[in-house]
Amino acid sequence: MSETSINEIIIVAIDFGTTFSGYAYSYREEYLRDPLQIYSNRWDGQILPQAPTVLLFNSEKTESYFGFEAEEKYDGLIKRKEHKDWRYFRRFKMDLNREKAEIKEDKLSLAYEPEAAAIYCKHIRLAKLREPGKDATIQPFPPGLKFLVLDLGGGTVDISAHEVQEDGTLKALTEPSGGKWGGTLVDDGFLEIFEGLFGADIMTGLKRDIEQAESKRELDAEIEMKKRTIVGKSNAKANNVISIKLPFALREGTKSAQFESALESGTYELIQGKLLIDNSILLSAFENSVSKIVEHFNILLGKTELERLDAVVMAGGFSDSKVVQEAIKDVLKNYPKVDLIIPENSASAIVHGAVLYGFNPSVISTRKSKYSYGISTSAPFVEELHPLSHGVQRDGSNKCEDIFKVFVKKGEEVIPGQTTATHTFNPSPLTRENQTIEVYKSEEDVPPMLVTECQKVGLVCFTVPNGDFDATTVKVEMKFGGTQMTVSAVVNGPNGSKSVKAFFDWL
Ligand SMILES: Nc1ncnc2c1ncn2[C@@H]1O[C@H](COP(=O)(O)OP(=O)(O)O)[C@@H](O)[C@H]1O
Ligand SMILES: [Mg+2]
Repeated sequence: MSETSINEIIIVAIDFGTTFSGYAYSYREEYLRDPLQIYSNRWDGQILPQAPTVLLFNSEKTESYFGFEAEEKYDGLIKRKEHKDWRYFRRFKMDLNREKAEIKEDKLSLAYEPEAAAIYCKHIRLAKLREPGKDATIQPFPPGLKFLVLDLGGGTVDISAHEVQEDGTLKALTEPSGGKWGGTLVDDGFLEIFEGLFGADIMTGLKRDIEQAESKRELDAEIEMKKRTIVGKSNAKANNVISIKLPFALREGTKSAQFESALESGTYELIQGKLLIDNSILLSAFENSVSKIVEHFNILLGKTELERLDAVVMAGGFSDSKVVQEAIKDVLKNYPKVDLIIPENSASAIVHGAVLYGFNPSVISTRKSKYSYGISTSAPFVEELHPLSHGVQRDGSNKCEDIFKVFVKKGEEVIPGQTTATHTFNPSPLTRENQTIEVYKSEEDVPPMLVTECQKVGLVCFTVPNGDFDATTVKVEMKFGGTQMTVSAVVNGPNGSKSVKAFFDWL
């Protein structure tokens, strides 16, 4: 039996990825019976559970399309040469947060992708352990199991690590980390190879020229398909040749001298508009992305918090790549006690895990903060410590401004719903009712001294009732452990204390 404190009849999870998007849902009744009874979306007439993250709308914004529909519609527009007045966006990161989404606040919550994958893996009864020559299965994750999740997506690679607790919840072992090393870097690698073949002019024209939109669309689709067939060094058979159908714009390019000389090198062949390239050459398109993933993965495995790791889970679309799988296995050869788990449907593991999270958010019992969070304050000026450029004279004393007052440090354990920071201060009489506090973050291991070296994340906003500002203090409380920062404020004035409306305004 599964637990839920949630009364909603249905939970829908939406995954807006940089390259692919999808959704999944389940009903409370079904969740209680079998948490893995989750329904995936199907897009009309498509086999794939995910649709490309593509948005198309006309200049008047009266018509809009998403995903496969957007692609098909755009193809038609191009063919009829009617596409000039349309806006076509692909590969964009939805920076979604509660305030922007037009969903009632208490009905929307955010999930972290690798955490969602972790929750999904904790639930699956049998996961395939994919290793050469051994297709073993494993049991559900028992208490004490320590595992790392690699969410390998199109835009980013996101990593988290957890330990299963006695009560079945997940405790964070490290703060989440990652970088922009996802599958789109491979696409860039392909384009670079083509640039070497056809020259920069042709490739730039293909990217920028609206007349060549059809060719660009065809090439993108061809890359998306063919990159899935590339294998790593130890899997590659001799004479493993990949054929790439060249779009019209590049077929023109095969007449150039640059291309002619590339053909003479003997590594390429051109047969009926198809370019035959050896696997080993296309493998180099993975180099940038894979080397960064491997480098970071090695660093993580060397961390003391991850000593005695039991398993590594791969999720996200890019984890289907044979090249990536091989690279990860290679690293794990040095860690024979660590199992590699690649769930059968690794691409949808995340969105399914997000449904499970929706029904039971308390399954994440602790997190570790990815950033240091704090606000800007001033302090008495200390010559040995503070830079002169930030010094000011106020109320007859020297102060240093812009000091980063840290509430939560990077890597610090935070507990959802519990970890709070409070800040008490005198409201500024200048801004009267509308008070704000700027909140900053830093990803440095050691938080910088000044907020000028941090990034601003947003504003805590609240109202102070009109009155005697001099005699008033405000206590602002921020909650950090959740996927969204929440705030509350209490005003202490001549007429006693009173909680006031407060909210967080993301930039
Ligand atoms: N078999 C495969 N081989 C190589 N790359 C793949 C494969 N399957 C999916 N990808 C790549 O994975 C990425 C999509 O992963 P996904 O998790 O859906 O990304 P996101 O959520 O960031 O949009 C794309 O770059 C896609 O080309
Ligand atoms: Mg994703």
